[in-house]
Order: sequence, then structure tokens, then C-alpha cells
Amino acid sequence: MSSEHCIDIPDQLDDQQKDQLKDTPADPFNSVIDIEVSRRTFIKTTGILGTAVVTGIPQLVAAQEAQAAAATTPQMLSVTLKINGTSKSLSLDTRTSLLDALREHLALTGSKKGCDHGQCGACTVLLDGRRVNSCLTLAVTAVGAEITTIEGLAHGDTLHPVQAAFLEHDGFQCGYCTPGQICSAVALLKEHKHNTLSTVSFETGNITNPELTDNEIRERMSGNICRCGAYPNIVAAVRAAMKGASA
Ligand code: FES
Ligand code: FES
Repeated sequence: MSSEHCIDIPDQLDDQQKDQLKDTPADPFNSVIDIEVSRRTFIKTTGILGTAVVTGIPQLVAAQEAQAAAATTPQMLSVTLKINGTSKSLSLDTRTSLLDALREHLALTGSKKGCDHGQCGACTVLLDGRRVNSCLTLAVTAVGAEITTIEGLAHGDTLHPVQAAFLEHDGFQCGYCTPGQICSAVALLKEHKHNTLSTVSFETGNITNPELTDNEIRERMSGNICRCGAYPNIVAAVRAAMKGASA
């Protein structure tokens, strides 16, 4: 080992001691210094961070509490909803879903709550003729729209052709999904009339005037789940309604 890499040996030491030290490398010593510096830096840094965290906790908790309070404090809004041709005035928490407004505030319980997460279609209603999951629609956003629920499809004692077709073809078992299925099918027929396309239309390459085949019906009704598995009869009912006959 070259001398420049070794420690400086004090003159006061005797020869034996000098011999013992002469090959002692300088690096370990420097490493110790480095370690000491690093440790000091680390302690200092974590001290600062720790202080910041400790002093920041009350503000963080306060901010979280304020946020939680804001989220749970109702913001009420007076709205008028036009449902099945009739205007209804309501004072609603702005977070109320259209489904809850219908069921809980207006006693229109035809629309069903299956999942409340937009996954089953039981809550399907029509907004200006377009199908929506009312559990995912804020009631206040439906102001100004024509809302049609299952209760608004029939004219007096005369069923809507889709309702009649579901009856005729036994398109249900327990009936829980049925209001959503029927509202969805009503919109489906209108969409088809306006040449709206589905994935199946593209798969079959029939994108100018897609025929409403059973596959098209299945695809277009795929947002409506039936846990009873009444799908064959539902498809038959939609097919019959499309043809304008329930038999
Ligand atoms: S309840 Fe709305 S999609 Fe299931
Ligand atoms: S008829 Fe029972 S869930 Fe569809």
C-alpha cells in the first residue's frame, strides 16, 4: 500500500508502534467520517421531516374533518322534474340519485334498485327517450328533461306494445328486472329505428341499416341483467315488439 493512502504517523510514537501503524489505510478513517456525516445529515433531515409531520398532523386532521363535514352536510336544492308528463316540485339533497328521487320522494317504485352501481340495469328509465341508469344519474341533472318511467309507458289500461310483448312471451320470472328491461327495450327500438349501431353491427359489417337480429337484441340489451335467466323470452318479446306484434 503506498504511503499517501496511509495515515500520518505521529513522531511521538516509538518504532514498534510506528511499525504497527505504518500500513493502516487512510480510507477506513475517511469512511468513518463519511458515515458520521451521513448519520448527522440523516438525523438532521429526519428531524426536520419529523417536526413537519408532527406539526402538520393537526392541520391534516382538521382538513380531513372539514372535508368530511362538507361531504355529509346536505346542500338542498328546489327542483321541478317532469315525470311521465307531470311536473313535480321537490326539495332535494343535490347528491340524490334520480332513482332515489323517484322511489323515495315520489313513491314511483316501478324502477328497481338492484346494484345501485350502474351494473344491472334494473333502474333504467328514459330521459328524453334515451335510456339511462337512474342510480347513476343525479336527480338535479334531470331538470328540464322528459323523464319516463315504467309507470308512464301505458296509456290508461292500454299497455305499451313492449309491455304487451313481455306479457305475451313470458319475458320475466320474478319480475324484478322487468321494468328496467322494458324501458331499455323501448329505447332500443327507437335507437334501431334511427339506425344506431351496436358492436354486433360492426362485427357483421351491417352498418348502414342493421337488421335487429337476436344477436343484435342480446347485445343491445346486455346492460340489463336478469338473475332469473329469462333471456330467451326477453329476446322473443323484443323481437315481437319490433315486428309490431306480440305473437
Ligand atoms: S340499480 Fe342501477 S344499474 Fe343496478
Ligand atoms: S325476471 Fe327475475 S331478475 Fe329478471
